[in-house]
Amino acid sequence: MHDFRKINVGVLGATGTVGQRFITLLADHPFFILHALGASQRSAGKPYPAAVTWKQTKPVPAVVRNLVVRECKPEFFTECEIIFSGLDADVAGPIEESFRLAEFAVFSNAKNYRRDPHVPLIVPLVNSSHMAMIPQQRALHTPPLRKGFILTNANCSTTGVVVPLAALEKTFGPIESCMVTTMQAISGAGYPGLPSLDIMDNVVPYISGEEEKIEWEMLKILGGLTEGDDGNKAFDMHAKQPLRVSAMCNRVPVIEGHTECVSVRFARRPPPSPQQVREALLAYTSDAWTMSCPSAPRHTVFVHEEPDRPQPRLDRDYQAGAGVNVGRVRQCPVLDIKFVVLANNVAIGAATSSILNAELAVCKGII
Ligand SMILES: NC(=O)c1ccc[n+]([C@@H]2O[C@H](COP(=O)([O-])OP(=O)(O)OC[C@H]3O[C@@H](n4cnc5c(N)ncnc54)[C@H](OP(=O)(O)O)[C@@H]3O)[C@@H](O)[C@H]2O)c1
Repeated sequence: MHDFRKINVGVLGATGTVGQRFITLLADHPFFILHALGASQRSAGKPYPAAVTWKQTKPVPAVVRNLVVRECKPEFFTECEIIFSGLDADVAGPIEESFRLAEFAVFSNAKNYRRDPHVPLIVPLVNSSHMAMIPQQRALHTPPLRKGFILTNANCSTTGVVVPLAALEKTFGPIESCMVTTMQAISGAGYPGLPSLDIMDNVVPYISGEEEKIEWEMLKILGGLTEGDDGNKAFDMHAKQPLRVSAMCNRVPVIEGHTECVSVRFARRPPPSPQQVREALLAYTSDAWTMSCPSAPRHTVFVHEEPDRPQPRLDRDYQAGAGVNVGRVRQCPVLDIKFVVLANNVAIGAATSSILNAELAVCKGII
């Protein structure tokens, strides 16, 4: 249980799209105090409002108005325990590692450590049990770390789809195939994103590396943790029932909120009906909610009954973007069941996931 001692946190990449969302979400947080901000050398040394191109609907929070942006070096963050990283993947690798080595708990949005066999890849509404890997990650360092670790959240499109799939696997057992076609918002590419002449009046049927991320990350997140005879843990990548995933990713002229059309085939025969699927999605509750994490959504999966929902403009901010929207649950003539998912890529797809992961780590006594 959290002892209500507030914890100082730092945000790396604080001037970016994800960094700005961290700041709005952490400005008045019951567990955490925004204490230090980091970005590139272009921004370092400037007061935060002068360094940032602020693109949020709320004004820059008072708590950061007088903070000066620092370089992303551990020595400038010594009064923090937790580091949230919204760093560009081109630079996140060595910077996040330097913070882990300096005994910070690092919660990253970047892709760099997601495939590391000792780094948990956690969607907080799905697999918080994977935090059990953290002691092994610490122990493997020479000398072993006492407090430092890296924990990543998933790619924003992976996050949307794994939440309903986890709910379905919990109720109906393993899924053996999944086809997912995404319609991804421009903000998923960071600021300033694609030139308007490339994305207005258009759909771009390619997002570099995105399909491979979804196909691989889903296995790590939905799989379990195994323990060998030597006591060492490993991620099993859904090995007990192989899961085949095919993803097709598109960029569309939407500012925020990734929409995904999903078809699944269950291992069990006969498969569940659309009504049973709806009920299972509605009944699904995350550990984050049962452990009373302050940012957890009441409805992990909100199921829409209207035939034309969810829609990004109307539904992306429901529950502050912390839950996942599902609609159009129906029979699939090729696989078993198909439905539409909408997840806010900047909230549950990025900053909210990291914050929920940190809240879970506090509630579980890992921090
Ligand atoms: N956008 C999304 O929906 C989303 C969702 C999930 C995950 N992610 C991941 O989250 C990360 C951030 O994405 P974003 O969309 O927020 O990107 P972004 O808007 O381009 O922001 C990048 C941040 O990284 C900082 N940075 C760049 N080079 C740096 C350097 N050499 N040293 C220190 N800081 C540096 C930038 O600081 P300056 O302003 O000083 O340049 C900025 O704060 C990426 O790894 C991305 O893949 C994004």
